[in-house]
Amino acid sequence: MISLGALLDGPVFAGYVYSYPHKTAYRQLEPPRQLRSVWSDERRESLFLYLHVPFCEYRCGFCNLFTRATPPEQMASDYLIQLQREAEAVRDELGDCSFGQLAIGGGTPTFLTDKELTQLLAIVTDTMGADPTAMPVGVECSPATATASKLQLLREWSVDRISIGVQSFDDSESASMGRPQDHRESMAALDRISEEGFAIRNIDLIYGAAGQTPRGFARSIETALRWSPEELYLYPLYVRPLTGLGRRGDSWDDERLQCYRAGRDTLLSAGYEQVSMRMFRRIAGPGLASGDGAQLGHPEANSSRRTPSSEYVCQRDGMVGLGCGARSYTRRLHYSTEYAVGRSGVHEILSAYLARPAHEFRSARHGIALGEEDQQRRYLIMSLLQAEGLSLAEFSSRFPDVIDARAAFPELGELESAGFAVDEGDRFRLTPAGLERSDAIGPWLYSAHIRSLMEQYTCR
Ligand SMILES: C[S@@+](CC[C@H](N)C(=O)[O-])C[C@H]1O[C@@H](n2cnc3c(N)ncnc32)[C@H](O)[C@@H]1O
Ligand code: SF4
Repeated sequence: MISLGALLDGPVFAGYVYSYPHKTAYRQLEPPRQLRSVWSDERRESLFLYLHVPFCEYRCGFCNLFTRATPPEQMASDYLIQLQREAEAVRDELGDCSFGQLAIGGGTPTFLTDKELTQLLAIVTDTMGADPTAMPVGVECSPATATASKLQLLREWSVDRISIGVQSFDDSESASMGRPQDHRESMAALDRISEEGFAIRNIDLIYGAAGQTPRGFARSIETALRWSPEELYLYPLYVRPLTGLGRRGDSWDDERLQCYRAGRDTLLSAGYEQVSMRMFRRIAGPGLASGDGAQLGHPEANSSRRTPSSEYVCQRDGMVGLGCGARSYTRRLHYSTEYAVGRSGVHEILSAYLARPAHEFRSARHGIALGEEDQQRRYLIMSLLQAEGLSLAEFSSRFPDVIDARAAFPELGELESAGFAVDEGDRFRLTPAGLERSDAIGPWLYSAHIRSLMEQYTCR
């Protein structure tokens, strides 16, 4: 276990724990694992279905998501043909199952043409057998690709949550992030989104760009508030190896922390509640009742305004990911295609996906098996990094061998003594000082095994 001192001395922005374990801890599975047996003893009545669209109009300087900018002419339609094959194979392997939540992310799903989007949604309904009218459905888009006809089509397919990446309304900040964007395009897209009547509109903003001040960041938030979005995600900028930007420096942590606080305070005083370090949800506002939201594939993504008959719970139910770059989770195995951020690595993995024979989609070939400790750590991290914290009773009911999570994980006591967490008897939660250190606390809680796998990973 790494000492609390190391946590206190280390960077505040060490790493975003989007999921645990990180994909850099995945390895080739030898031999491949047949999906039928991987899923056979899992709860399959409320699965999360995720479809990944790995294409964008351009590659933003900061982005480390699995995506390819400006793909060749035929690639998106070839991708959909392959996705259809994958869906058929996976659906057959899953056996009896039903879905409780759907998300389509990327990349930029709305990079697809209207016809291609319709084809994608038909895979969801006709091949996977999911009913979008009966579950929360979220889709990601970018300002330039969120055309009126695509938004209308998504509404017709019962999409109730739309998330748009704006990053900043200040064009010089966008440029310094390596994202060519005109704020008027973002504003026009937000008007179109609002006209379509999505129950949940989410706006992504980024802080930590060169030249950005806390005041400048708060101004972007204030601009976003003109549309009264139901949710906002405030992302600290990360610059990772092989992305287009190369900005580092000791004072950067302080700048980002100041922006974070300015953003958080602006939203709390505007009637939003904090769900996690990044996510804020409107609790009151003109003409709309409070609701809870779902961020695509994110740990916060448990529910949305539409409540399914059997609700998906991220710490309990599995995720079925389709497409190149999508992850799938069962309790004991996490798997996906291979991971890369750099251009050539992404191209190779995408080409391999497009050439994959259909029978290979029936097995998991790249991933990680989670032992008991890492299943518990996953639950602990994903719960603790939410504002509502960890329910000790729920933890023990999920892991009956652990009578008291505080005794099993002495790190919890250390967080409490440092003032980063409070023990409320039945719940353990981060304090505001802990929440703003989420990106340090998350990685601090990794097991030695996962930490060492991540350290051995070579970036491609
Ligand atoms: C799939 S994108 C959103 C949709 C669309 N592709 C777009 O960019 O408009 C997901 C979000 O992740 C965030 N993001 C990606 N890489 C990041 C990084 N290195 N640092 C901070 N935020 C990042 C951005 O806010 C982005 O909007
Ligand atoms: S931030 Fe969005 S648009 Fe930019 S490269 Fe990443 S996925 Fe594509």
